[in-house]
Amino acid sequence: MSGLRLFEPQASTIAERVDALFVTLLVVSAIVMIGVWAVMIWFAVRYRRGSTADRSAPPDRHVVIELAWTLIPFAIFLGVFAWSIALFAEMQTPPKDAQTMYVLAQQWFWKIEHAGGVTELNELHVPIGTPVRLLMTSQDVIHSFYLPAFRVKQDVLPGRYTQLWFKATTPGEYPLDCAEYCGTNHAGMGGRVIVMAVTDYARWLAGHAGATSLAQRGAGLFRSLGCSGCHGENAQVHAPSLDDVYGRPVPLANGTTKLADENYLRDSILLPQKDIVAGYAPIMPSYVGQIGEEDVLALVAYIESLHRRPEPP
Ligand code: CUA
Repeated sequence: MSGLRLFEPQASTIAERVDALFVTLLVVSAIVMIGVWAVMIWFAVRYRRGSTADRSAPPDRHVVIELAWTLIPFAIFLGVFAWSIALFAEMQTPPKDAQTMYVLAQQWFWKIEHAGGVTELNELHVPIGTPVRLLMTSQDVIHSFYLPAFRVKQDVLPGRYTQLWFKATTPGEYPLDCAEYCGTNHAGMGGRVIVMAVTDYARWLAGHAGATSLAQRGAGLFRSLGCSGCHGENAQVHAPSLDDVYGRPVPLANGTTKLADENYLRDSILLPQKDIVAGYAPIMPSYVGQIGEEDVLALVAYIESLHRRPEPP
């Protein structure tokens, strides 16, 4: 990298808007700082020892000034709050048509798996203009997936899934970093994200063909681990059907409902006693310690693939 860069290039749809908020905050803070310093210096000079300024009958209160310095900052804070909440909510909500890719963090590298089963290390190839959603987990400690040029960053935690999404706008190569200290080689845990034209991305994927997709591997595990023995179509055991469970609310034995998202599926495999589905006995064995993160992810991807996507309008 040459020299000091104050701003990374803007390469995602959100980048410009994050920068706009950031610059606004910077400018507002600068104006307040300059104002406070100006008044402070003015007072220090005017009322310095020995000056002839009038010190008699200091004003007791000035309602207009007091209201102004209370209400104006309050309005500015509320404005910034509303603005950031709107932006944050958008950054937290992947579009329905987003393409999911899977990220496994490990000391000290990133493993990325594309929907078709193509995997890469410390590199992330993405198509331009396509919303991409990353479903992420860690095999060991807390990491943080950071794409500065996209202005997105999300902690990657062991024991649960987190996600982030972006839509790349400019072809090129940009840094990928780990933004959470995670041990000796934390500084070296990174790589690059490569934004490609849609056709180039398709060609790149095809060039790595032959891989089995996560969902296909999950289907294999579903049988070999014995899941299908209870959750399958002709099972003798009374277990919830997993067809079309993903993305739906599940009624639980304790009377509440829970959305069957990836974290729910994950917990159901590893901590099956946590959320018992209403009307079913708590007989599901835990697979904690028996299967690795990648296998859990494969099972989750398989169960997701059973979900019938609604027809586009
Ligand atoms: Cu991984 Cu820092």
